Amino acid sequence: MGKIHVIDRDGDKHELDIDNGLSLMEPLRDLDGAGIEGLCGGMCSCATCHVFVAPQWFAKLEERQDDELELLEGTETFEDGTSRLSCQIVMRDDLDGIEVTLAPEE
Ligand code: FES
Repeated sequence: MGKIHVIDRDGDKHELDIDNGLSLMEPLRDLDGAGIEGLCGGMCSCATCHVFVAPQWFAKLEERQDDELELLEGTETFEDGTSRLSCQIVMRDDLDGIEVTLAPEE
C-alpha cells in the first residue's frame, strides 16, 4: 500500500491510497467528481489518463514505451520532462508518495 499525492484540474489536493501492482490510473479514475476518464481501461490507447509527474518522481519511473510516447506527443499539453500516461505507471514501494497533477481535459 502506498500514497499518491494528486492535484486535480481545479488545483485541489488529494491523497489517495493505492496497492502495489495497480496502475495509478485506477485510483485517479475513482477520484470523486475530479478524476481522469481512463476511457480505454488502461490499454494505452486513449490518453485520457494523462498526468504530469513531479520531476523528482518522473526520474524514478521506467522509460516511456514508444506507444505511450506517441499518444502523449499527440496531446496539446505534452511536456517532455513530466508527461506520463498514468495507466502505464505501476505502483511499487519506491513510488510511495509520488506527486502527480492531472493534465487538462482535451
Ligand atoms: S487509460 Fe487510456 S491510455 Fe491510459
